[in-house]
Amino acid sequence: MTETTNPAEPDAVLLVAKSAFAAAPYADMERIAATMAEAHPESMIRFGFTEQGMPSLREALLDLVGQGVARISVVPLLLPMEPSFETWLKKSIRRWHHEDGRDWPEISIAGRMTDSPLMADLVTLLLQDCEQLELATDPKLLSEGSLVPAQKRRVLVCQGGACNVAGAEAIWCHLRNQQVRQKLRVTGDGTMTAKSTCLGPCNLAPVVQVFPEGTYYGGVTEAAIDRIISEHLLAGSVVDAFAYHPTGRKQRLRKSL
Ligand code: FES
Repeated sequence: MTETTNPAEPDAVLLVAKSAFAAAPYADMERIAATMAEAHPESMIRFGFTEQGMPSLREALLDLVGQGVARISVVPLLLPMEPSFETWLKKSIRRWHHEDGRDWPEISIAGRMTDSPLMADLVTLLLQDCEQLELATDPKLLSEGSLVPAQKRRVLVCQGGACNVAGAEAIWCHLRNQQVRQKLRVTGDGTMTAKSTCLGPCNLAPVVQVFPEGTYYGGVTEAAIDRIISEHLLAGSVVDAFAYHPTGRKQRLRKSL
């Protein structure tokens, strides 16, 4: 039997997951991608993460652009999919395209999983593989101690409304992946990272704040994060190009960053 190519099939499918901190969820994504590849042998199947996990969505997308594919279908594997996530996804892809400078293939975003008529079948299938949870009765098991972090630096990434719309999720993803790649927790003074609610200067979105100095950075991009890491976190120098000093007066986002 000869294999036929479906002309409607995209050249590349990019599966989007939230995060993979450990090896097991990463392996899960590899397995899903392999299954997809079997079902769609004419397509390149890739995945990327929007929070922590490598490759990040941006890295995976830019890599596919570099492969010269004609079309990329982006498939968010998220339940439920917040409307703000959809907005963020479209905005981020447009920004990455704008910053990239190369000719890009056609990009489309797949429908929402929650709208699929197969959801009930999927849940029914999952119910056939339930594992009983052992409830703890020993109080000692419920009161484990915690390690108090020795790291001296903290980076807060604002996740308030304005910052989310301006791409804070991509900034968080890039920072978390660089934290792992560059071993920032144990390099220099040691850096911890955290998401925060609104940090105040919403018109400078997306905003991050670096402690112990409390330096505000605005209009932050992935490139700005790279500089904040190398110059501020690791070398102790504030990156003036992105910094907004606490003058007590209104400041506007500098466009020429
Ligand atoms: S929403 Fe980020 S500073 Fe207000």
